[in-house]
Amino acid sequence: MYVSSIKLVNYRNYDCTSVEFDKNINIIYGKNAQGKTNLLESIYLFSAGKSHRTNKDRELIHFNKDYANIQMFFTNKDGEKSGEMILSHNQKKRIKINGVPIKKIGELMGFFIAVLFSPEDLNLVKEGPVHRRRFLDICISQIRPAYFFHLQQYMKVLEQRNNLIKRIYEKDSLMDTLSVWDQKLVEHGSRIMYYRISFIENIKKIAKAIHSSITKEAEILEIEYVPCFNIKNVKSISDVEEEFYRQLKKWNSKEIKNGITLIGPHRDDISFLINGTSVRNYGSQGQQRTVVLSLKMAEMEFIKENIGEYPVLLLDDIMSELDSSRQSYILGKMEDKQVIITCTDVERFKGFCDAKYFKVEKGNIQKGGI
Ligand SMILES: Nc1ncnc2c1ncn2[C@@H]1O[C@H](COP(=O)(O)OP(=O)(O)OP(=O)(O)O)[C@@H](O)[C@H]1O
Ligand SMILES: [Mg+2]
Repeated sequence: MYVSSIKLVNYRNYDCTSVEFDKNINIIYGKNAQGKTNLLESIYLFSAGKSHRTNKDRELIHFNKDYANIQMFFTNKDGEKSGEMILSHNQKKRIKINGVPIKKIGELMGFFIAVLFSPEDLNLVKEGPVHRRRFLDICISQIRPAYFFHLQQYMKVLEQRNNLIKRIYEKDSLMDTLSVWDQKLVEHGSRIMYYRISFIENIKKIAKAIHSSITKEAEILEIEYVPCFNIKNVKSISDVEEEFYRQLKKWNSKEIKNGITLIGPHRDDISFLINGTSVRNYGSQGQQRTVVLSLKMAEMEFIKENIGEYPVLLLDDIMSELDSSRQSYILGKMEDKQVIITCTDVERFKGFCDAKYFKVEKGNIQKGGI
């Protein structure tokens, strides 16, 4: 899969810019605050349906402009495709694939897939579980659109169930209506958890092998799913459903007292262990970075196994944060896929004669070597 070109109109600090990419290696360089990340973000929009930096679409529109338009041409194994996104202040964003408007963001999933690796991804290991759930949600949605559907339904049910629980505290008689929401919560929540179990089972093996290779066998990476309740030896969705119901019963009075849903995949987490020790609590900066690197590389391989082609790899200024052996590892993995890399120090890439270079300056992009 590769992006052939993108045109940005009123997007972030770009007025009107077009870029034609190389099918393999693209190096986007420039000083700080010139628009390098903005460019990667605009490509990533077609993969996740939203920015990796904000949930507010209006932030993507150039200051003082009414709308932004992004047009991208890309090729996947089914052929050439186009994507268009129109953002405006007073309307929901509009998306077209091959000129046809899509009704729901879920319909976008799977057309174009990019794996983005940026410095903020360290949050995956260092910060709270919300970052890890977001990682799961984006990865799984891209290859399993049904997951995205259940996730959206689950979030709606969760909100409604929480509203009801708050009211039950004041009015006991509403308790009878809770079972309707319990049923929907279990239906969508169990499917989300079932997908997560299978995804983590797969990706942990790939990440372990990659991590071992990067660290020259010095470190063993273990990734474990930490669901909000214990579910061992799950063979089917109904195993998860049964346990989910059991847990809801167990926590019922506490939920009413706290006025919130305490059980469900919105409380899930993942743990990362190196040689048996928690990376979040004890890992060095370098180890944490390497875990994220292993995970992103594993994500890329996993997508390839599932859809039969590599996603586009977007690397946002990560080279400067990695030591030379880790940099070499990434640089050695650039064949047979499209990679779009941003950096401030372009000298680092001097050996890459075949790469296409772009200089970004104040929202202008110029093609050119170094
Ligand atoms: N909606 C917007 N309208 C206009 N300019 C914006 C908007 N959003 C962000 N910017 C500007 O875009 C500029 C470039 O941002 P970007 O994050 O792409 O920089 P960068 O080249 O990646 O820099 P760095 O090397 O520091 O990461 C910033 O100075 C920011 O103020
Ligand atoms: Mg940047």
